[in-house]
Amino acid sequence: MGRREPPAPPGLSLVTLALGLLVPASGMEVTAPAVVYALNGTDIRLPCNFNSCYKMDTKQFSMNWTYQGCDNCTEETFIQYDKKIINQHLERFQNRVEFTGNPIKNDLTVTIHNVQLQDEGEYHCYVLNPPDRHKGTGKIRLEVLTEVPPERDSTVAVLVGASVGGFLALVILFLVILKCVRKKKMQNLNSDDQKTEEEVKTDGEGNPEGELKAAIPEVL
Ligand SMILES: *[C@@H]1O[C@H](CO)[C@@H](O)[C@H](O)[C@H]1NC(C)=O
Ligand SMILES: *[C@@H]1O[C@H](CO)[C@@H](O)[C@H](O)[C@H]1NC(C)=O
Ligand SMILES: *[C@@H]1O[C@H](CO)[C@@H](O)[C@H](O)[C@H]1NC(C)=O
Repeated sequence: MGRREPPAPPGLSLVTLALGLLVPASGMEVTAPAVVYALNGTDIRLPCNFNSCYKMDTKQFSMNWTYQGCDNCTEETFIQYDKKIINQHLERFQNRVEFTGNPIKNDLTVTIHNVQLQDEGEYHCYVLNPPDRHKGTGKIRLEVLTEVPPERDSTVAVLVGASVGGFLALVILFLVILKCVRKKKMQNLNSDDQKTEEEVKTDGEGNPEGELKAAIPEVL
């Protein structure tokens, strides 16, 4: 008689479905706000964070920030990482851009000092964190205002933005952890088919999430 496959726990297949729907095929999640508003003449942070299954390795890591002034303008690289942060000192920014993040903490924030109207446009951060093979991209549209918006509106907008952003960041972090676990599991299955099957059998009657719980600490 053929061997019977252990039935897939319903909880896990639901999680797999959610991952398939929500997480694109790429290995890296990059979080950046879609739009940043800045007041003319102030300093503004353009945040960009990445999550990866692998620890950042300063020798292999690569990162670029580009500026694109219009839809069909070319992207101009103004900051990049090649074993260290390199500021290209583009004429258009006249030393007003500064890297204020910390790549080891997955933070690629840049700050524009004394923002000008002509700084408006699309800012892209590109990240590659080998051995992750996929490049991550964050896109921010910068809009420069010349007067402070009415107090009430901006407070509400900031509050809503902060809570939505915080929630999204949590969801994404959760999904990345799950995906890393799944990746590990698949590697285990490939490299050690027999062993995994036995583990599933002995564990099979009990708690199907035991395996998942056990795998998470290895990743963190
Ligand atoms: C923006 O601010 C600069 C000074 O930082 C000022 O010279 C310029 O006139 C301002 N532009 C507008 C449109 O308010
Ligand atoms: C951008 O493309 C549009 C048509 O799609 C064209 O009319 C316009 O001149 C282009 N602008 C630049 C700066 O090339
Ligand atoms: C950044 O730019 C350099 C030089 O153009 C390129 O070799 C590298 O792959 C880029 N890195 C990313 C993450 O886009």
